[in-house]
Amino acid sequence: MGKVAVGIVVVCGVAVAAAAAVVVHRRMKKSAKWVKAMEIVKDFEIKCSTPISRLRQVADGMIVEMHAGLASEGGSKLKMLVTYVDSLPTGKEKGLFYALDLGGTNFRVLRLQLGGKGHGIINQQFVEVSIPPSLMTGDSSDALFDFIVAKLAKFIAQEGSDFKPTPDRQRELGFTFSFPVVQTSIASGTLLKWTKGFSINEAVGRDVVAELTKAMERHGLDMRVSALVNDTVGTLAGGRFANNDVVAAVILGTGSNAAYVERASAIPKWHGPLPKSGEMVINMEWGNFKSAHLPLSEYDLELDAESLNPGDQIYEKVMSGMYLGEIVRRVLSWLAQEAAFFGDTVPPKLKVPFILGTPAVSAMHQDTSPDLKMVANHMKDIFEISNTSLKMRKVIVHICSIVAARGARLSAAGVLSIMRKMGRDTVKEGEKHRTVIAMDGGLYEHYTEYRKCLENCLHELLGTEVFKTIVLELSRDGSGIGAAILAASHSKYLGSDD
Ligand code: BGC
Repeated sequence: MGKVAVGIVVVCGVAVAAAAAVVVHRRMKKSAKWVKAMEIVKDFEIKCSTPISRLRQVADGMIVEMHAGLASEGGSKLKMLVTYVDSLPTGKEKGLFYALDLGGTNFRVLRLQLGGKGHGIINQQFVEVSIPPSLMTGDSSDALFDFIVAKLAKFIAQEGSDFKPTPDRQRELGFTFSFPVVQTSIASGTLLKWTKGFSINEAVGRDVVAELTKAMERHGLDMRVSALVNDTVGTLAGGRFANNDVVAAVILGTGSNAAYVERASAIPKWHGPLPKSGEMVINMEWGNFKSAHLPLSEYDLELDAESLNPGDQIYEKVMSGMYLGEIVRRVLSWLAQEAAFFGDTVPPKLKVPFILGTPAVSAMHQDTSPDLKMVANHMKDIFEISNTSLKMRKVIVHICSIVAARGARLSAAGVLSIMRKMGRDTVKEGEKHRTVIAMDGGLYEHYTEYRKCLENCLHELLGTEVFKTIVLELSRDGSGIGAAILAASHSKYLGSDD
């Protein structure tokens, strides 16, 4: 009896030991996977690091490219496009003007009533329409412009008789077209290439104002494009209309870019007459900046290689709203694949490009709940991953913060290069000036951590004394408003009312 009992105890003992071994083995495997996951994250963090010394190198590199782009057409990756805007709004603009703001998956039609000196904007109305994805990458630019003009015509058809121009006048429109365009005058310019997920080959090399005008004719819409502007230029003009100290504009939205006021004499490639103001607004197209100093990881390189515009817009691809979510998705997908971060199989939704938008990254990054509920919800809703532990969610937040901090700090380096080019990076004895930069774009407006990080970094780069003279001012929807105001200052009826 005693022997049997001993036997059972021995058998049980073996079973318990075996089970314990399995548990230990599983734990070791799990912890080996966790170690592997942490290595992947650490490696990513190192590759994305942006110490101040590196940001200064980025800014130095950008200044070199700014000079090269101003020296000759095509002289640099930075296009430094001459905009033909040689005088910015004064606040005296008056009358009824329209804007069409096209630059992302949505476009806006806007009507603005300007009251003249001291009255500002009296009335403003807009509609926003989303563009069917098939038109953004289709074969026909007519199809895109027809769609847009149909909505514009509808907007006009619905307005009251108060807005009808007198029979001797045409309605006038500022066309914000937020892609790289070489302008040939204030109201004409040819498209160099598409960005931000647009790709309609036949439009490249064409005059976008002519394309829009033809579409307006097809729809029997009697309207004249009196200004063609990039969104940065519209934002700069809208900013200046409200505040005389505005000298530059930065867009941080789906894409990214900046414009600033340059001395006309510092633009060797400009062969036209020197403007009376002595100034010219330059659309930098900074999104296309590329430098060996940009911190790039393998996730960025793969994103670029698989994009519609490989090799282009590298700076934009590490800092703008269209791409931040996609970078985070790629890191998570790699963690799932290489370190079984979400379990033994890779959740299929993790493999879907662009499924994770930047608003979700922003929400997860800024989740202040103790159990990171927002992160859990987003992982479930977007990727159908419901088994995240708090420890895993913390890692996900960390990845979001790495991506956002790199983007924000690199944009601060871009702003530094403009300040240096304009000589606004020092405060001279007895000199008192304020430098206001008009900022627009959903990324800047809604992603608070990104915005704070950009500002803190700019402070670090410029030092407190200079930073105190600089204001980054949110200019919501400035691009459309500014285009309508530029349509006013370039109206063919200018002076005929006086
Ligand atoms: C375009 C720019 C534009 C920026 C912000 C970039 O992709 O090339 O023209 O200003 O996006 O919308």
